[in-house]
Amino acid sequence: MSISIDDIADALSEKGYIVIPRALDANVLNGLQHRVTDLSPEQWLSAGIGRNTDFQQNKKIRSDNIFWISKNDPQESAFLQNMELLRQGLNQRLYMGLFDFEGHFATYPKGAFYQRHVDALHGRSNRVLSVILYLNDGWSADDGGELLMYPEHQECQEKEPIQRVVPELGTMVVFLSEQFPHEVLESHRQRYSLTGWFRVNSSLSGRVDPAS
Ligand code: OGA
Ligand code: MN
Repeated sequence: MSISIDDIADALSEKGYIVIPRALDANVLNGLQHRVTDLSPEQWLSAGIGRNTDFQQNKKIRSDNIFWISKNDPQESAFLQNMELLRQGLNQRLYMGLFDFEGHFATYPKGAFYQRHVDALHGRSNRVLSVILYLNDGWSADDGGELLMYPEHQECQEKEPIQRVVPELGTMVVFLSEQFPHEVLESHRQRYSLTGWFRVNSSLSGRVDPAS
């Protein structure tokens, strides 16, 4: 990682999120970029179907396609190693009890978006920390597709975003999953990202596993 885990931990405890430019080693970023652009159309799943059986597919809410990453691919594995170091470092500093990480590439074709949502509804998910890494070269303001993050506990839907993030290669956003509603504005060109979540172990944290 380009910044220390101390800095990430401080940001998470002070404001709950951090945006890190050029977060990872150039080799790792380029490897991921090659990997994601080399995936064939059949390898992509329409978001909302597949692994999470309780997640209703809803094209009105999101229109991206996803591909789950694993240790079997060397580029994906290099990224997962970085996430493992982050997991251990945050657990040591913040006692977060992060148990594992799951993640997928996402591609937003021209015209795709993801409406405002929260990654984990309070008490109903074991996802506690979200990570988004962007994999696009030379993104400009005209390309749309920005991530907008909104303040926690907002009553009024009209509130201004607290953060706008341009999905440029290497930019990584890390945030507490339950606390920040966010959306992806309509993208005007093909957009690639890698999104993942650190989870706590439901049985250890005393929560009841949602039916799956
Ligand atoms: C998500 C998400 C944002 C992005 O997949 O849950 O909010 O910028 N992605 O790709
Ligand atoms: Mn999200």
